[in-house]
Amino acid sequence: MAPALDGSLAAKPGPSVTHPLDPLSADEIVRAADILRRHFDLGAALMFETIDLAEPDKAVVRGHAPGQPFPRAARFTVYKRGETGAWAGRVDLDDGVVAAVDFLPDARPMFSPEEFMQIEAAAKADPRFQAAIARRGIDRMDLVCVDPWTAGNFGAEGEDGRRVAYTFVWRRAFEFDNYYAHPVEGLNVAVDVDTFEVIRVDDHSAASGTFVPVPMEPINYDADLLGSLRQPLKPLDVVQPEGPSFTVEGNRIAWDNWDLRVGFSGREGLILHQIAYTQDGRRRPVVYRASIAEMVVPYGTPEGVHYRKNVFDSGEYGFGKLAQSLSLGCDCLGHIHYLDVVLHDLAGQPRIIPSAICIHEEDAGLAWKHFDFRTERTETRRLRRLVVSSITTVGNYEYCCYWYLYQEGTIEFEMKATGIINTAACIPGTEQEYGTEVAPGVIGHIHQHIFCARLDMEVDGPGNSVVECDTVAPPMGPGNPMGNAFKVVERVLPTEQAARRRVDFERMRYWKVVNPEARNRMGRPTGYKLETPSAVQPYLDPAGPSGSRAGFIYNHLWVTPYHPDERYPAGEFMNHSTGTDGLPAWTARDRPLENVDIVLWHAFGLHHLPRPEDHPVQPRVLCGFKLMPVGFFDRNPVIDLPRETNRASRGNAGPAASCCA
Ligand code: CO
Repeated sequence: MAPALDGSLAAKPGPSVTHPLDPLSADEIVRAADILRRHFDLGAALMFETIDLAEPDKAVVRGHAPGQPFPRAARFTVYKRGETGAWAGRVDLDDGVVAAVDFLPDARPMFSPEEFMQIEAAAKADPRFQAAIARRGIDRMDLVCVDPWTAGNFGAEGEDGRRVAYTFVWRRAFEFDNYYAHPVEGLNVAVDVDTFEVIRVDDHSAASGTFVPVPMEPINYDADLLGSLRQPLKPLDVVQPEGPSFTVEGNRIAWDNWDLRVGFSGREGLILHQIAYTQDGRRRPVVYRASIAEMVVPYGTPEGVHYRKNVFDSGEYGFGKLAQSLSLGCDCLGHIHYLDVVLHDLAGQPRIIPSAICIHEEDAGLAWKHFDFRTERTETRRLRRLVVSSITTVGNYEYCCYWYLYQEGTIEFEMKATGIINTAACIPGTEQEYGTEVAPGVIGHIHQHIFCARLDMEVDGPGNSVVECDTVAPPMGPGNPMGNAFKVVERVLPTEQAARRRVDFERMRYWKVVNPEARNRMGRPTGYKLETPSAVQPYLDPAGPSGSRAGFIYNHLWVTPYHPDERYPAGEFMNHSTGTDGLPAWTARDRPLENVDIVLWHAFGLHHLPRPEDHPVQPRVLCGFKLMPVGFFDRNPVIDLPRETNRASRGNAGPAASCCA
């Protein structure tokens, strides 16, 4: 343990830090990095993969009173440039010491954004790569693009035990050209990301001398290059003359009956903490912490070396590190409250992403309606939702993350996937078994995007159980003489192994989280249901080099008792992982799950055979899930919405008249 720092660096949370769950401030990152530099004494060779908030014990968080002091600590992963292995541990920011540290000789840190261009530069500087580019008749190296794919764990020559990028290549026709329209097939470079040594140049066509031609038709999306655009529609404005209905204090949001805290990490991106619904003056917790904790994109073609495309965009690159600033009136419509995100770079310096988190409210259509045909009275209410969002760009793709809180108690996550599909080259017009020719000579291979949500639940308090609900039809005969009977059969999932579950359409299966000690008006446990419309069937063989690292995709639901170190479903260190850490390993312990502090893990995503319509940029496609109250409330929780008529609305018969009664 290092000695405490002198008083001049005493812990002093910046003005932005007012709560134990607030992300680290820039000052705190500076301080943590300084403590780590002194501790390791490696000078500029010390690389900072991760410095982020070490969340305090839940008891500390729950017991926190505004204005009271609270402990601050940072988690870290650092490594020495040029060497394998990493140190992981905890910095106590109050005492100014490294409070815990382990050296992990096999751990290989995630890629950092600033390494992307260094990987490209290393490839381009290699004479073997230059020769391969020349063999293809390409004479402008400045127009060649080398994308830094993580390399997985395939036992390839020279890669073992190293931190490696396995690159794929595209080219531009001119400076602002869309290079993904011009894939350079059959040329890959393995680069050591610690030393930037080129391990191998794989020119798969060099021996035969026959190359798949690079498709050179320009297919662009930049409006400056497109020429003619359609006529714009008339303005559609979101008018909030009195401002929004939410308030933001620091990282806490209050809106209608909801309140929550917003967090963010370089690895997970958006984090929602302490989501609660207040009813009749009683604040009722629902979720302690929610995030998208991992994702993987397996590509489905065995051709060439495309099997190596199997990226964990959270664990290998960092979903939060690749978040983008959002722009008002383009990304975000209406009255917006932005939050900046504070991360850090490889040198341990704070890196601020301005306006990375967007908070606003939206009309969500009709809430409820009834017309009494006898009295001819009508009651109609509209619904609103609070939206917390951020957008991440991982190479060619955009992941747009939206958390919605609805007035009627539903919490929804929606992923809007857009950006550019990953492309390869083919002989134009040839039959494609594992993909779609999206433009002449350009193929998009079949793939999936499988995300894993980590939902640390606290429905009416920490003691929760998970219930599986299957609908069954008793056989026609005694008890079901007309053959119409069907009912829901409930079963508590008692332990972790029993709680490795998959969706079952034949049983209309769903799961709910209940609090066995909290009862609704009918005497039933209060609960929240997990709706899983985006469960996907995985096709990776679980024994293969990619499937074995992605164990979380083989069940749609996993449940674990809360443990602070169980955070990432495919394991803590993902880069070149072996699959020995993560949900399959944790749940093998088969810990009991009834009336304990549980964490739900839900794997969901997109099954994607690209369409020509997805090129050159894919119109957004959606996936997600919902947490919906089931017996949490005693009645329709929005029955008390006031009658309202939107006076800005206009019809062909004139301005809006009152719509109710
Ligand atoms: Co896709």
